[in-house]
Amino acid sequence: MKLEDVVPWGRSKNEYTRMFGLTPRDLRASILDCAGGPSSFNAEMIREGYKVVSCDPLYRFSAGQISERVEEVFEPIMDGIRANETGFSWREMGSPERLGEVRRSAMDLFLQDFPPGLSEGRYVEGGLPTLPFDDGTFDLALCSHFLFTYSAQLSEGFHLASILEMCRVAEEARVFPLLTSSVHAVGGEGQASPHLRPVVDGLRERGYEAGVEEVSYEFQKGGDEMLRVRRRG
Ligand SMILES: C[S@@+](CC[C@H](N)C(=O)[O-])C[C@H]1O[C@@H](n2cnc3c(N)ncnc32)[C@H](O)[C@@H]1O
Repeated sequence: MKLEDVVPWGRSKNEYTRMFGLTPRDLRASILDCAGGPSSFNAEMIREGYKVVSCDPLYRFSAGQISERVEEVFEPIMDGIRANETGFSWREMGSPERLGEVRRSAMDLFLQDFPPGLSEGRYVEGGLPTLPFDDGTFDLALCSHFLFTYSAQLSEGFHLASILEMCRVAEEARVFPLLTSSVHAVGGEGQASPHLRPVVDGLRERGYEAGVEEVSYEFQKGGDEMLRVRRRG
């Protein structure tokens, strides 16, 4: 992975909780955040006494390098969002300015937490579809704004292999959103991913329960559904 190919854009614990319908019991579980990137989910969870491991190829870079890349992409992403304002629901964020503040604060929290979290093993370099963890290491594996979001760049086979891999290392996998993205990795004018139906069928054929559930989070218009997958029986 080259740093110039990454578009770091991080969400908060509050957003993760709603994107994945996380209950108090889920928060106490052992959680893997796949494609965690510069989200503050891990940083906020450890402060509150929970434990998350985040995994991303981005973690081979230093906090300084990631921070520089955040600075490079921040305004271009915000310009993309302003140009596609109608593709988003502003009910909660209110305005692009407020969204920019929320994203900055999440990424600042991540950047502070990254060096200590790396030494504690809470941030691990690694990428789908092959994760560096033993079978059944986690209760829950999450993936936000990577699978389905990049449907144009990543094949159906990559999606299926990645979700099977999440289910190898965790008892249950959840993926959000299920729409493709037209504005970098942040949404806008989302369309249902063409991979969703064949991937769900492929999972069911292989003995998994796979279902789409509505959640209470919607920023990308129409993006209020997650996929929940676990082995049948
Ligand atoms: C848009 S960010 C999402 C960050 C975070 N999950 C969130 O929602 O705030 C997408 C992330 O996918 C990561 N990524 C790219 N290739 C990957 C791969 N093969 N496996 C896992 N993550 C990958 C990128 O490094 C980036 O951090």
